[in-house]
Amino acid sequence: MTDRYARPLRDLRLSVLDRCNLRCTYCMPEESLDGRDFLPTSRLMSDAELERLVRLFVGLGVHKVRLTGGEPLLRPGFADLVRRLAAIEGVEDLALTTNAILLPRLAADLAQAGLGRITISLDSMDESVFSTMSGNRGSVGEVLAGIDAAVAAGFSQLKVNTVVQRGVNDQSVIGLVDHFRGSGHTVRLIEFMDVGNINHWSHDQVVPSAELLRVIHQRWPVKPVAYQAAGETARRYEFLDGSGEIGFISSVSEPFCGDCTRARVTADGVFYSCLFSSNGTTLRPLLRSGMSDEALLQHIHGLWRKRDERYSESRNGGGRSSSKVEMFRMGG
Ligand code: GTP
Ligand code: 5AD
Ligand code: SF4
Ligand code: SF4
Repeated sequence: MTDRYARPLRDLRLSVLDRCNLRCTYCMPEESLDGRDFLPTSRLMSDAELERLVRLFVGLGVHKVRLTGGEPLLRPGFADLVRRLAAIEGVEDLALTTNAILLPRLAADLAQAGLGRITISLDSMDESVFSTMSGNRGSVGEVLAGIDAAVAAGFSQLKVNTVVQRGVNDQSVIGLVDHFRGSGHTVRLIEFMDVGNINHWSHDQVVPSAELLRVIHQRWPVKPVAYQAAGETARRYEFLDGSGEIGFISSVSEPFCGDCTRARVTADGVFYSCLFSSNGTTLRPLLRSGMSDEALLQHIHGLWRKRDERYSESRNGGGRSSSKVEMFRMGG
């Protein structure tokens, strides 16, 4: 089953909640949120609905499921949801993206529930830079405590996602890379993207990965990792001194739409076929209408078949859509 550009459906990114305990300036800057509502609890998909949806997507070829938000750990009973999803046959890779603040409380339960992997967002090791980017909420110390809790619970190889903004945290990137070299965790440096409408994105604030690679290579020589899985977002490099890997997610300077196999569903059950879509298709009424699994499969199959998005590749040719969905709603 492929879309109009012959891309199969392999990954499902499920947002389980659009709320967050941080206010990262590149995602949901506090002042832009003014009056903007988060989803009321009554509109969230239930655990049972999410479980059914994941089963359906597995039936269509999905092997990888990533739970995102907002901040997924704020969802009440999140570990129970993980347990239900981990038990689905065909879910080979169940991963979580989190800011780590609540991991000291939850990591052990998540490991016990069958969560496979954790990716942590951390933009700087410098408390004042961190605070500037997180909207003065949380702290580096809390994120590091979350990382320790994840490791103690058995999640040994974490990914650490760092969004780089020129003039904001670019000068502290080396310190962050230095901190995680040799730890077994992999830092991935992400170009600031023009996702959503409220993050004041400008091209001047994007630090192209090539520039960061040069600086890092000067300090600690690296070479590209030979094997890159199809559909992978990050270009991976390994440190020649054996201190592990570093990744670059270059959605602006080197888009990777060509083999994008990712579908997204929001916490209220809206399906989107691209991170930059303006319009989605709501699945929740169908789930609640008594529609059979077979009919639902056909429906989602039809959505994927007509998928023709490749926003990041057309961005530079003026492919900007007018009103995009915010990333905290769509899922990161
Ligand atoms: P793995 O399952 O470990 O391969 O995760 P991943 O590489 O998909 O990474 P992750 O889920 O941590 O995503 C990292 C970041 O890459 C996201 O927060 C986004 O900034 C960006 N990203 C992920 N998927 C897409 C995508 O489909 N399009 C674009 N433009 N950016 C994406
Ligand atoms: N640009 C790039 N990545 C972003 N994220 C959120 N907003 C942006 C953006 N504007 C990603 C980061 C963060 C995850 C939750 O979402 O990777 O770690
Ligand atoms: Fe929250 Fe993640 Fe958005 Fe930051 S990037 S505000 S941690 S959802
Ligand atoms: Fe996939 Fe859209 Fe991202 Fe391109 S911009 S990689 S099509 S989600």
